[in-house]
Amino acid sequence: MEIPVHIAIIMDGNGRWAKAHGLARNVGHARGSKNVEKVCEMAWHMGVKYLTVYAFSTENWSRPQAEVEALMKLLRNYMKSSIKKAQKNNMKIRVIGDISILSEDLQTSILTLIDATKQNTGLNFTIAINYGSRDEMTRAMKKIAVDCLEQKLQVADIDEATIASYLDTEELPDPDLLIRTSGELRLSNYLLWQLAYTEFYFTDVYWPEFGETELRAAIARYNQQERRYGKVVLSEGDR
Ligand code: FPP
Repeated sequence: MEIPVHIAIIMDGNGRWAKAHGLARNVGHARGSKNVEKVCEMAWHMGVKYLTVYAFSTENWSRPQAEVEALMKLLRNYMKSSIKKAQKNNMKIRVIGDISILSEDLQTSILTLIDATKQNTGLNFTIAINYGSRDEMTRAMKKIAVDCLEQKLQVADIDEATIASYLDTEELPDPDLLIRTSGELRLSNYLLWQLAYTEFYFTDVYWPEFGETELRAAIARYNQQERRYGKVVLSEGDR
């Protein structure tokens, strides 16, 4: 079986999982957060090199304040508790999104974790926080405009590779497989540029229950796809 190099995940359904179990939404997010660690280990054991998860979108600020605070607390805990674990598992952690508006202490924990794991050579784990594709592209375009004005970049030299190099994902290959849990068929402003030729896998399973069986099913489905990148693959009879 061919293992996708880069898997991107929209971890949806924490709230519905909690409701289905008669629990508060925040309990669902806490279970979802635990599951992130499990899926990282599973993915690495299966041979995945890059895993990128959508933890908090630019739109998630409009959730009730208590829920936003609970999510920030989970992220803060994750950054602190992951330093040792990431070193043990040789995991390199990156964050994409505009972290400049997060609380000072969360920014510090994020930068500390990134710095502590930057030499690691195992799973490249990327967490999208205050991330939205349109915001990422807007920030990239502003930087490109500034570099053109300062003559560091010539308009005629701008190509797709230039644009990719101004995105938050500049160090990551494009995802081969996108997984979205909980039955929604949307991209929700996630990696719109990077997903241009990615295979999609949607499952009804809620994120806290997404485990090894589901990950294997997603990879098996990925193996049934023929990735053509816009080309036509002619068989004998078509010629
Ligand atoms: C979507 O479920 C999930 C989120 C908006 C947050 C995802 C965050 C985590 C899994 C925890 C923190 C992550 C890390 C990396 C430590 P939802 O609330 O929209 O669920 P619903 O659609 O069922 O209401």
